[in-house]
Amino acid sequence: MDGLSIQRLSREADLTTFDCGETALNEYVTRYALKNQFSHFAVTYIASIEDDTAGFVTLAASQITRAEVDPAVKRVPRYPLPTLTLARLGVDVRWRGRGIGTAMLRFGLTEAVRMADEFGCVGVRLAAKSDAVGFYERFGFVLIEPLGTSAASTVPMFLPLNQIEDALGVTRSSGGEG
Ligand SMILES: CC(C)(COP(=O)(O)OP(=O)(O)OC[C@H]1O[C@@H](n2cnc3c(N)ncnc32)[C@H](O)[C@@H]1OP(=O)(O)O)[C@@H](O)C(=O)NCCC(=O)NCCS
Repeated sequence: MDGLSIQRLSREADLTTFDCGETALNEYVTRYALKNQFSHFAVTYIASIEDDTAGFVTLAASQITRAEVDPAVKRVPRYPLPTLTLARLGVDVRWRGRGIGTAMLRFGLTEAVRMADEFGCVGVRLAAKSDAVGFYERFGFVLIEPLGTSAASTVPMFLPLNQIEDALGVTRSSGGEG
């Protein structure tokens, strides 16, 4: 998308008017994201356009167990495997529907490919809000088994590494660009 830049969250980011329409996400990015970053719990990236904060995505290292993935998935060892979690994603209501959510998702998927090359990563996981499931399904994310620790209001989803390339192709052909 023309004019969009994605930068790691810093103290200089202007989030004063940011509103993605979800109070919990707004509160996370304005109050907790930087603290969590300093603690190395997760890293947040900000999408800016025309000097405006248009969206954010939070990424964190994670793992996935055999119990969570479809039994049809073969050759999954008993020990947990490394994944990248797309922990939070929000686009300002003023910038919705212009490909920024897609661009931030593409950014996360590209980071997962880099992680796979450098440290190992078998895919991207996330806990979707129920009304965002359709957004992720467009890119090939599938539902996985909920863990005991999953919030009941969210839907656990996963995109295996070997399908990320396809997902990046789909998003390119549908017009989103990072
Ligand atoms: C979900 C969200 C990130 C999408 O961001 P966005 O910038 O508006 O998305 P895009 O413009 O990249 O949309 C890409 C496509 O996905 C579709 N889409 C967007 N939101 C969707 C949803 N909730 N369900 C299904 N499809 C969706 C768009 O219609 C668009 O389709 P098109 O290419 O055929 O026109 C944004 O609506 C948002 O921040 N919502 C509130 C917070 C939230 O739900 N975050 C996800 C938490 S898990």
